[in-house]
Amino acid sequence: MEESKKRMLSGIQPSGDLHLGNYLGAIKNWADRAQDYECYYFMADMHTITVRQEPAELRRRSLNQLAQYIACGLDPEKNVLFLQSHVPAHTQLSWVLNCYTMFGELSRMTQFKDKSSKYKDNINAGLFTYPVLMASDILLYQPDYVPVGEDQKQHVELTRDIAQRFNSIYGEVFKIPEPLISKAGARIYSLSSPGDKMSKSDPNGCVFIMDDDDTIMRKFKKAVTDSDTENPIRYDKENKPGVANLMNIYSTLTGRSFEEIENEFAGKGYGAFKPAVAEVVIETLRPVKSEAERLIKDKAYLDSVYKDGAERAAYVANKTLRKVYKKVGFYQG
Ligand code: TYM
Repeated sequence: MEESKKRMLSGIQPSGDLHLGNYLGAIKNWADRAQDYECYYFMADMHTITVRQEPAELRRRSLNQLAQYIACGLDPEKNVLFLQSHVPAHTQLSWVLNCYTMFGELSRMTQFKDKSSKYKDNINAGLFTYPVLMASDILLYQPDYVPVGEDQKQHVELTRDIAQRFNSIYGEVFKIPEPLISKAGARIYSLSSPGDKMSKSDPNGCVFIMDDDDTIMRKFKKAVTDSDTENPIRYDKENKPGVANLMNIYSTLTGRSFEEIENEFAGKGYGAFKPAVAEVVIETLRPVKSEAERLIKDKAYLDSVYKDGAERAAYVANKTLRKVYKKVGFYQG
């Protein structure tokens, strides 16, 4: 890879099957970046155990997700694809950065507040220090950009604060990364409750990449909209959040503006609009699904991608880790 290219890094938790929110908010935008950037993408399996996981399922998803990443267009020759737990430097740096992150900062994280109210019987220390591991994931690779959905912006901002704090004590150790939030797919909402972001915890409102065509059609036909019959297909995020979400999905996948969509469906109702959105989603996901199904059967290939990815990632990560260890005073002989 050329040294002069800007570097990009991002991760997804294999805590559930990939859905349209992950696809539009993250992966879709990653696929054609390899041309211009040096890209690192990983499955954040260590982050997932902050919430209880079924071990066999986590293993299955870690492999399936790699197949799905590749099927979405992430070429393992052009991108470094790896599993977080295969690169020990992530947790090694995380311990150091824990000592440079304040209790108050972590207490303010929205995701911690959400998850600790949702999983009241398991508010573990890992859930609390989760953003420090995420900061380590990022800072080890010295990336210029971190492409994420809007919900992860706060964590990237904390990463910047931690890096700046560390640099102000020890000199320029870490590059300060910029979050990169794509406007269109930044927040895809649940089809069944358009006030909430699409997430696997609400399976009826969530379209999974591997859902079959009929299931996708059914979920869109049942999408919550409103009782407007006068001029139903128009973009009004405040008053018509369900329609705005469907228009956003349609616009992101077809490249048409909201105005063009309003013209296309002028005089038509939800009975025409919802299946049309479902159709573009089905058409977009069809080749992804069949390629992922083919790859999932080739475990030897997927294992080799993970092995190669971990080696390439560790090479970069260890360089940063050695520097950090030296700066904080760990004797290295
Ligand atoms: P995760 O696994 O929840 O989500 C992965 C990516 O998908 C985006 N996303 C969405 N975007 C739009 N609409 C939605 N409904 C939606 N749901 C999810 C997320 O913003 C994210 O970009 N902590 C991270 C994983 C992580 C990470 C990192 C990311 C760990 N270390 C280092 C970047 C860099 C997370 O839980 O994402």
